[in-house]
Amino acid sequence: MPTVEWSDALSLDFAPMDTAHHRLVDLLAQAQTATDDSLSAAWAVLLAHTKAQFAEEDRWMRSTRFAAAANHLLQHRVVLNLLMEGETMARAGQLAPVREMALELASWLIKHTQSMDAALALHLRRHPHATGCGTALDGVNHVGAP
Ligand SMILES: [Fe+2]
Ligand SMILES: [Fe+2]
Repeated sequence: MPTVEWSDALSLDFAPMDTAHHRLVDLLAQAQTATDDSLSAAWAVLLAHTKAQFAEEDRWMRSTRFAAAANHLLQHRVVLNLLMEGETMARAGQLAPVREMALELASWLIKHTQSMDAALALHLRRHPHATGCGTALDGVNHVGAP
């Protein structure tokens, strides 16, 4: 089974999210290729990054009153709960279901990035201060300025 890898198809052309997503994809690939001895540690790193990344997106959605936030927040919570279950299983040496979970996470991640995250990136481009990042729209705002 091929491991997940970063590609342009996952890029949202929005650096604050793309950077975190790229890292997430790399960590998931590391978990997918981890040996039995290292799977538990790889999963813990993946879980920590995912937690932080979801929390950041959640914060951006709330601070900008993103209209589609409810479903997006719920998806993050459900996936995070599953990953935490995975961590418990990995620690207990139940590796087969964790490897299965990594596969499912990979296909979920692609769909989530290209749908919910894509919509959020579009929204956040109009709220550059929420992410602390200027965007191309900054330039637009200055057009015609004295
Ligand atoms: Fe995301
Ligand atoms: Fe998301």
